[in-house]
Amino acid sequence: YSVDAHRTDLMTITRFVLNEQSKHPESRGDFTILLSHIVLGCKFVCSAVNKAGLAKLIGLAGETNVQGEEQKKLDVLSNEVFIKALISSGRTRILVSEEDEEAIFVEPSKRGKYCVVFDPLDGSSNIDCGVSIGTIFGIYMVKDGHEPTIEDVLQPGKNMVAAGYCMYGSSCTLVLSTGTGVNGFTLDPSLGEFILTHPDIKIPKKGKIYSVNEGNAKNWDAPTASYVEQCKFPKDSSPPKSLRYIGSMVADVHRTLLYGGSFLYPADKKSPNGKLRVLYEVFPMSFLMEQAGGQAFTGKQRALDLVPTKLHERSPIFLGSYDDIGEIKALYAAES
Ligand code: AHG
Ligand code: MN
Ligand code: MN
Ligand code: MN
Repeated sequence: YSVDAHRTDLMTITRFVLNEQSKHPESRGDFTILLSHIVLGCKFVCSAVNKAGLAKLIGLAGETNVQGEEQKKLDVLSNEVFIKALISSGRTRILVSEEDEEAIFVEPSKRGKYCVVFDPLDGSSNIDCGVSIGTIFGIYMVKDGHEPTIEDVLQPGKNMVAAGYCMYGSSCTLVLSTGTGVNGFTLDPSLGEFILTHPDIKIPKKGKIYSVNEGNAKNWDAPTASYVEQCKFPKDSSPPKSLRYIGSMVADVHRTLLYGGSFLYPADKKSPNGKLRVLYEVFPMSFLMEQAGGQAFTGKQRALDLVPTKLHERSPIFLGSYDDIGEIKALYAAES
Protein backbone atom coordinates (compact mmCIF):
# COMPACT_ATOMS: atom_id res chain seq x y z
CA TYR A 1 0.00 0.00 0.00
CA SER A 2 1.14 3.57 -0.59
CA VAL A 3 2.55 5.55 2.32
CA ASP A 4 -0.46 7.84 1.80
CA ALA A 5 -2.65 5.21 3.41
CA HIS A 6 -1.19 6.39 6.70
CA ARG A 7 -0.99 10.10 6.01
CA THR A 8 -1.36 11.50 9.48
CA ASP A 9 -0.74 15.14 8.67
CA LEU A 10 -4.47 15.31 7.91
CA MET A 11 -5.97 18.75 8.45
CA THR A 12 -8.91 18.12 10.77
CA ILE A 13 -11.54 20.77 11.45
CA THR A 14 -10.22 21.06 15.02
CA ARG A 15 -6.65 21.72 13.90
CA PHE A 16 -7.96 24.10 11.23
CA VAL A 17 -9.89 26.17 13.76
CA LEU A 18 -6.94 26.17 16.18
CA ASN A 19 -4.76 27.53 13.35
CA GLU A 20 -7.39 30.22 12.74
CA GLN A 21 -7.47 30.97 16.47
CA SER A 22 -3.70 31.42 16.57
CA LYS A 23 -4.25 34.40 14.23
CA HIS A 24 -6.24 36.03 17.09
CA PRO A 25 -3.80 36.01 20.01
CA GLU A 26 -6.42 37.73 22.15
CA SER A 27 -8.75 34.76 21.69
CA ARG A 28 -9.03 32.52 24.73
CA GLY A 29 -10.19 29.58 22.66
CA ASP A 30 -13.87 30.12 23.42
CA PHE A 31 -14.83 29.92 19.76
CA THR A 32 -12.77 26.76 19.30
CA ILE A 33 -14.57 25.15 22.23
CA LEU A 34 -17.97 26.27 20.91
CA LEU A 35 -17.21 24.89 17.45
CA SER A 36 -16.01 21.57 18.85
CA HIS A 37 -19.42 21.16 20.50
CA ILE A 38 -21.23 22.01 17.26
CA VAL A 39 -19.06 19.43 15.48
CA LEU A 40 -19.98 16.87 18.15
CA GLY A 41 -23.68 17.57 17.51
CA CYS A 42 -23.18 17.10 13.76
CA LYS A 43 -21.42 13.75 14.28
CA PHE A 44 -24.27 12.57 16.49
CA VAL A 45 -27.02 13.64 14.08
CA CYS A 46 -25.05 12.17 11.16
CA SER A 47 -25.01 8.77 12.81
CA ALA A 48 -28.70 9.05 13.80
CA VAL A 49 -29.65 10.03 10.22
CA ASN A 50 -27.67 7.13 8.79
CA LYS A 51 -29.43 4.71 11.12
CA ALA A 52 -32.83 6.44 10.89
CA GLY A 53 -34.42 3.78 8.72
CA LEU A 54 -33.21 1.04 11.04
CA ALA A 55 -33.77 2.77 14.32
CA LYS A 56 -37.42 3.48 13.55
CA LEU A 57 -36.61 7.21 13.69
CA ILE A 58 -38.55 7.62 10.49
CA GLY A 59 -42.07 8.96 10.71
CA LEU A 60 -43.86 11.56 12.71
CA ALA A 61 -43.13 12.43 16.31
CA GLY A 62 -46.82 13.22 16.70
CA GLU A 63 -46.33 16.89 17.53
CA THR A 64 -46.26 20.05 15.45
CA ASN A 65 -43.68 22.83 15.94
CA VAL A 66 -44.07 26.59 16.05
CA GLN A 67 -43.92 26.55 12.26
CA GLY A 68 -47.08 24.42 12.24
CA GLU A 69 -45.04 21.62 10.65
CA GLU A 70 -45.41 17.98 11.67
CA GLN A 71 -42.28 17.20 13.70
CA LYS A 72 -40.54 14.05 12.56
CA LYS A 73 -38.58 12.20 15.21
CA LEU A 74 -35.21 13.22 13.72
CA ASP A 75 -36.30 16.88 13.92
CA VAL A 76 -36.97 16.49 17.62
CA LEU A 77 -33.87 14.39 18.31
CA SER A 78 -31.47 16.70 16.48
CA ASN A 79 -32.95 19.73 18.20
CA GLU A 80 -32.33 18.17 21.61
CA VAL A 81 -28.81 17.08 20.62
CA PHE A 82 -27.76 20.56 19.55
CA ILE A 83 -29.36 22.32 22.52
CA LYS A 84 -27.56 19.96 24.93
CA ALA A 85 -24.24 20.21 23.06
CA LEU A 86 -24.38 24.01 22.88
CA ILE A 87 -25.33 24.51 26.53
CA SER A 88 -22.69 22.04 27.73
CA SER A 89 -20.05 24.00 25.81
CA GLY A 90 -20.38 26.72 28.45
CA ARG A 91 -19.80 29.29 25.69
CA THR A 92 -23.36 30.23 24.72
CA ARG A 93 -25.74 32.83 26.12
CA ILE A 94 -28.81 32.60 23.87
CA LEU A 95 -29.96 29.82 21.54
CA VAL A 96 -32.55 30.22 18.79
CA SER A 97 -33.81 27.06 17.10
CA GLU A 98 -36.36 26.64 14.31
CA GLU A 99 -38.00 24.03 16.53
CA ASP A 100 -38.53 26.26 19.57
CA GLU A 101 -40.92 29.21 19.55
CA GLU A 102 -39.05 31.04 22.32
CA ALA A 103 -35.32 31.76 22.52
CA ILE A 104 -33.41 29.67 25.07
CA PHE A 105 -31.55 31.80 27.66
CA VAL A 106 -28.68 29.74 29.07
CA GLU A 107 -28.49 29.59 32.87
CA PRO A 108 -25.88 31.99 34.34
CA SER A 109 -23.49 29.26 35.51
CA LYS A 110 -23.14 27.94 31.95
CA ARG A 111 -23.20 31.26 30.10
CA GLY A 112 -20.60 32.30 27.48
CA LYS A 113 -20.44 35.15 25.01
CA TYR A 114 -21.98 33.60 21.90
CA CYS A 115 -25.52 33.39 20.55
CA VAL A 116 -26.17 30.48 18.22
CA VAL A 117 -29.11 30.47 15.80
CA PHE A 118 -29.75 27.10 14.17
CA ASP A 119 -31.99 24.89 12.09
CA PRO A 120 -31.28 21.50 13.64
CA LEU A 121 -32.69 19.53 10.73
CA ASP A 122 -33.23 21.28 7.42
CA GLY A 123 -35.18 19.59 4.65
CA SER A 124 -37.17 17.41 7.04
CA SER A 125 -39.81 16.75 4.38
CA ASN A 126 -37.08 14.70 2.67
CA ILE A 127 -36.19 12.49 5.67
CA ASP A 128 -38.42 9.53 4.74
CA CYS A 129 -37.26 9.31 1.12
CA GLY A 130 -33.54 9.38 1.91
CA VAL A 131 -32.76 12.68 0.18
CA SER A 132 -29.95 14.78 1.71
CA ILE A 133 -30.87 16.86 4.75
CA GLY A 134 -28.74 19.05 6.99
CA THR A 135 -28.13 21.34 9.94
CA ILE A 136 -27.62 25.10 9.49
CA PHE A 137 -26.07 27.43 12.11
CA GLY A 138 -24.99 31.02 12.59
CA ILE A 139 -22.96 32.51 15.45
CA TYR A 140 -23.18 36.05 16.88
CA MET A 141 -21.05 37.56 19.65
CA VAL A 142 -23.32 38.99 22.35
CA LYS A 143 -22.30 41.95 24.50
CA ASP A 144 -22.11 40.52 28.02
CA GLY A 145 -22.56 42.33 31.29
CA HIS A 146 -26.36 42.49 31.03
CA GLU A 147 -29.17 39.95 31.29
CA PRO A 148 -29.57 38.46 27.79
CA THR A 149 -32.65 39.64 25.91
CA ILE A 150 -34.19 39.04 22.48
CA GLU A 151 -32.66 42.32 21.26
CA ASP A 152 -29.24 40.66 21.57
CA VAL A 153 -30.31 38.19 18.86
CA LEU A 154 -32.16 40.51 16.46
CA GLN A 155 -28.93 41.57 14.74
CA PRO A 156 -28.32 41.92 10.99
CA GLY A 157 -26.62 38.91 9.39
CA LYS A 158 -23.50 40.98 8.64
CA ASN A 159 -22.76 40.90 12.41
CA MET A 160 -22.33 37.12 12.39
CA VAL A 161 -18.81 35.97 13.37
CA ALA A 162 -19.30 32.54 11.79
CA ALA A 163 -21.84 30.44 9.90
CA GLY A 164 -22.00 26.99 8.43
CA TYR A 165 -23.99 23.89 7.61
CA CYS A 166 -23.57 20.16 7.84
CA MET A 167 -25.10 18.09 5.04
CA TYR A 168 -26.09 14.48 5.80
CA GLY A 169 -25.95 12.94 2.35
CA SER A 170 -23.85 10.28 0.62
CA SER A 171 -21.12 11.64 2.89
CA CYS A 172 -21.31 13.97 5.88
CA THR A 173 -19.92 17.36 4.80
CA LEU A 174 -19.47 20.37 7.07
CA VAL A 175 -19.02 23.75 5.34
CA LEU A 176 -17.84 26.61 7.55
CA SER A 177 -16.82 30.25 7.39
CA THR A 178 -15.37 32.24 10.28
CA GLY A 179 -15.20 35.40 8.15
CA THR A 180 -12.04 34.67 6.17
CA GLY A 181 -13.37 32.48 3.33
CA VAL A 182 -15.22 29.17 3.19
CA ASN A 183 -13.83 25.68 3.86
CA GLY A 184 -15.43 22.23 3.53
CA PHE A 185 -14.71 19.19 5.69
CA THR A 186 -15.83 15.61 5.16
CA LEU A 187 -16.39 13.19 8.03
CA ASP A 188 -14.13 10.16 7.93
CA PRO A 189 -16.27 7.72 9.95
CA SER A 190 -13.28 5.44 10.55
CA LEU A 191 -11.46 8.30 12.30
CA GLY A 192 -14.55 10.13 13.59
CA GLU A 193 -12.85 13.31 12.33
CA PHE A 194 -13.92 15.98 9.85
CA ILE A 195 -11.06 16.22 7.31
CA LEU A 196 -10.43 19.33 5.16
CA THR A 197 -11.56 18.25 1.68
CA HIS A 198 -12.70 21.55 0.10
CA PRO A 199 -10.15 24.27 1.00
CA ASP A 200 -11.06 27.89 0.22
CA ILE A 201 -14.31 27.29 -1.69
CA LYS A 202 -15.08 30.00 -4.29
CA ILE A 203 -18.40 29.97 -6.12
CA PRO A 204 -18.13 30.25 -9.96
CA LYS A 205 -18.82 33.85 -11.06
CA LYS A 206 -21.66 32.67 -13.30
CA GLY A 207 -23.55 29.36 -13.43
CA LYS A 208 -25.67 27.25 -15.76
CA ILE A 209 -28.19 26.10 -13.14
CA TYR A 210 -31.19 27.78 -11.53
CA SER A 211 -32.91 26.32 -8.50
CA VAL A 212 -36.49 27.23 -7.53
CA ASN A 213 -39.77 25.46 -6.77
CA GLU A 214 -41.53 26.02 -10.12
CA GLY A 215 -44.74 24.85 -8.50
CA ASN A 216 -45.13 28.36 -7.07
CA ALA A 217 -44.81 30.05 -10.51
CA LYS A 218 -48.47 31.10 -10.56
CA ASN A 219 -47.85 33.36 -7.55
CA TRP A 220 -44.47 34.87 -8.43
CA ASP A 221 -43.96 38.61 -8.86
CA ALA A 222 -42.85 40.01 -12.23
CA PRO A 223 -39.06 40.22 -11.68
CA THR A 224 -38.87 36.60 -10.46
CA ALA A 225 -41.10 35.43 -13.31
CA SER A 226 -38.99 37.23 -15.93
CA TYR A 227 -35.72 35.94 -14.44
CA VAL A 228 -36.95 32.33 -14.62
CA GLU A 229 -38.31 32.97 -18.14
CA GLN A 230 -34.84 34.17 -19.21
CA CYS A 231 -33.25 31.04 -17.70
CA LYS A 232 -35.52 28.90 -19.90
CA PHE A 233 -35.69 31.08 -23.03
CA PRO A 234 -32.48 33.18 -23.08
CA LYS A 235 -32.86 36.41 -25.09
CA ASP A 236 -29.28 36.07 -26.36
CA SER A 237 -27.80 33.00 -28.04
CA SER A 238 -26.75 31.36 -24.73
CA PRO A 239 -28.17 27.87 -24.04
CA PRO A 240 -31.08 27.49 -21.61
CA LYS A 241 -30.12 26.79 -18.00
CA SER A 242 -30.76 23.50 -16.17
CA LEU A 243 -33.26 23.38 -13.32
CA ARG A 244 -32.10 21.53 -10.22
CA TYR A 245 -34.33 21.64 -7.12
CA ILE A 246 -33.88 19.17 -4.25
CA GLY A 247 -36.15 20.82 -1.71
CA SER A 248 -33.55 20.72 1.10
CA MET A 249 -31.99 24.16 1.34
CA VAL A 250 -28.69 22.69 2.56
CA ALA A 251 -28.43 20.39 -0.49
CA ASP A 252 -29.52 23.08 -2.97
CA VAL A 253 -27.10 25.63 -1.49
CA HIS A 254 -24.20 23.13 -1.35
CA ARG A 255 -24.64 22.34 -5.06
CA THR A 256 -24.91 26.07 -5.86
CA LEU A 257 -21.73 26.83 -3.88
CA LEU A 258 -19.72 24.13 -5.71
CA TYR A 259 -21.23 24.28 -9.23
CA GLY A 260 -22.46 27.89 -9.39
CA GLY A 261 -25.86 29.22 -10.45
CA SER A 262 -28.76 30.69 -8.50
CA PHE A 263 -30.99 29.46 -5.68
CA LEU A 264 -34.30 31.25 -5.21
CA TYR A 265 -37.01 31.12 -2.63
CA PRO A 266 -39.01 34.15 -3.80
CA ALA A 267 -41.97 35.88 -2.21
CA ASP A 268 -45.28 34.91 -3.67
CA LYS A 269 -48.88 36.06 -3.27
CA LYS A 270 -49.51 33.36 -0.65
CA SER A 271 -46.30 34.06 1.32
CA PRO A 272 -45.29 37.70 0.82
CA ASN A 273 -42.10 37.08 2.85
CA GLY A 274 -41.27 33.81 1.14
CA LYS A 275 -40.75 30.70 3.26
CA LEU A 276 -37.16 30.63 4.51
CA ARG A 277 -36.39 31.93 8.00
CA VAL A 278 -34.04 34.91 8.30
CA LEU A 279 -31.96 34.03 11.37
CA TYR A 280 -31.12 30.38 10.80
CA GLU A 281 -31.58 29.80 7.06
CA VAL A 282 -31.23 33.06 5.10
CA PHE A 283 -28.42 34.67 7.13
CA PRO A 284 -26.02 31.71 7.47
CA MET A 285 -26.35 30.76 3.76
CA SER A 286 -25.99 34.40 2.68
CA PHE A 287 -22.90 34.78 4.87
CA LEU A 288 -21.32 31.72 3.23
CA MET A 289 -22.24 32.88 -0.29
CA GLU A 290 -20.61 36.30 0.20
CA GLN A 291 -17.53 34.71 1.79
CA ALA A 292 -17.26 32.45 -1.30
CA GLY A 293 -17.49 35.43 -3.71
CA GLY A 294 -21.23 35.19 -4.44
CA GLN A 295 -24.19 37.41 -3.52
CA ALA A 296 -27.40 37.16 -1.50
CA PHE A 297 -30.37 39.48 -2.14
CA THR A 298 -33.87 39.67 -0.62
CA GLY A 299 -35.58 41.35 -3.59
CA LYS A 300 -35.22 44.66 -1.77
CA GLN A 301 -31.72 44.70 -0.21
CA ARG A 302 -28.51 42.80 0.52
CA ALA A 303 -29.69 39.91 2.67
CA LEU A 304 -27.04 40.43 5.38
CA ASP A 305 -28.19 44.04 5.89
CA LEU A 306 -31.68 42.95 6.91
CA VAL A 307 -32.46 43.67 10.57
CA PRO A 308 -34.89 41.04 11.86
CA THR A 309 -37.67 42.12 14.24
CA LYS A 310 -38.96 38.64 15.15
CA LEU A 311 -37.16 35.34 15.87
CA HIS A 312 -38.86 33.27 13.15
CA GLU A 313 -39.23 36.06 10.61
CA ARG A 314 -39.10 34.97 6.96
CA SER A 315 -37.63 36.69 3.90
CA PRO A 316 -37.50 36.07 0.18
CA ILE A 317 -33.95 35.07 -0.81
CA PHE A 318 -31.98 35.01 -4.07
CA LEU A 319 -28.42 33.71 -3.57
CA GLY A 320 -25.60 32.26 -5.67
CA SER A 321 -23.11 33.25 -8.37
CA TYR A 322 -22.18 36.93 -8.39
CA ASP A 323 -23.30 37.58 -11.97
CA ASP A 324 -26.50 35.52 -11.77
CA ILE A 325 -27.73 37.35 -8.67
CA GLY A 326 -26.64 40.61 -10.31
CA GLU A 327 -29.17 39.88 -13.09
CA ILE A 328 -31.93 39.38 -10.52
CA LYS A 329 -31.00 42.60 -8.71
CA ALA A 330 -31.19 44.49 -12.03
CA LEU A 331 -34.68 43.10 -12.71
CA TYR A 332 -35.91 44.20 -9.26
CA ALA A 333 -34.25 47.60 -9.63
CA ALA A 334 -35.98 48.09 -13.01
CA GLU A 335 -39.35 47.29 -11.42
CA SER A 336 -39.03 49.59 -8.38
P1 AHG B 1 -37.07 22.79 7.21
O1 AHG B 1 -37.11 21.35 6.84
O2 AHG B 1 -35.92 23.12 8.14
O3 AHG B 1 -38.39 23.29 7.73
O4 AHG B 1 -36.71 23.62 5.89
C1 AHG B 1 -37.36 23.31 4.74
C2 AHG B 1 -37.13 24.39 3.72
C3 AHG B 1 -35.78 24.30 3.02
O5 AHG B 1 -35.01 23.22 3.42
C4 AHG B 1 -36.15 24.15 1.55
O6 AHG B 1 -35.36 24.97 0.75
C5 AHG B 1 -37.59 24.58 1.50
O7 AHG B 1 -38.14 24.27 2.77
C6 AHG B 1 -38.37 23.85 0.45
O8 AHG B 1 -39.67 24.43 0.46
P2 AHG B 1 -40.75 23.97 -0.67
O9 AHG B 1 -41.04 22.53 -0.41
O10 AHG B 1 -41.92 24.90 -0.44
O11 AHG B 1 -40.10 24.20 -2.02
MN1 MN C 1 -39.17 22.92 9.55
MN1 MN D 1 -34.81 24.63 7.15
MN1 MN E 1 -35.62 22.45 10.09
